[in-house]
Amino acid sequence: MKSRVAKLATIISLTALVLALAGSNVAITTSAAQGKGKAKQSQGQKLYLSHCASCHGDDGKGNGPVASSLKSSVGDLTQIKKVEGKFPVKELKGTISGTYLVQVHGKREMPVWSNVLTNKQIDDLVKYLGSIQK
Ligand code: HEC
Repeated sequence: MKSRVAKLATIISLTALVLALAGSNVAITTSAAQGKGKAKQSQGQKLYLSHCASCHGDDGKGNGPVASSLKSSVGDLTQIKKVEGKFPVKELKGTISGTYLVQVHGKREMPVWSNVLTNKQIDDLVKYLGSIQK
């Protein structure tokens, strides 16, 4: 009698273990698919990694895989505050969306994002850029 209960208990705990393992596998796969395997990414960071990092690099320093095939330098997005003396939120939103088209030199190589991203997403991106200033 006792051993049957023990057997049952073993089966139940093994089942629980298998389920827990299966559960954690799913969790690992999902977070890996989101990019960095980090559990918590802000909206802005997610957008950045999916839309911007190919040129600007995962860390914003301008070393993305596409950067070397462009004519213009993509710049270092972590130095905006240092270079400008402030973090110019309005101008950055304009630069990203494409409404702020002051051309210092040459033609714009960066895609215009206003057709792809919502205002809210652009806000999130600028917030994220603010968080990576050095
Ligand atoms: C196809 C490559 C490419 C992608 C993708 C890209 N950029 Fe750019 N970005 C550039 C280039 C090149 C420049 C330099 C200006 C120019 O030539 O248009 C630039 C300039 C900028 C600037 C101005 C930098 C400064 O010093 O003022 C910001 C801000 C910026 N990008 C943000 C973004 C964000 C945010 C995304 C994602 C939504 C993004 N970029 C996606 C190529 C890219």
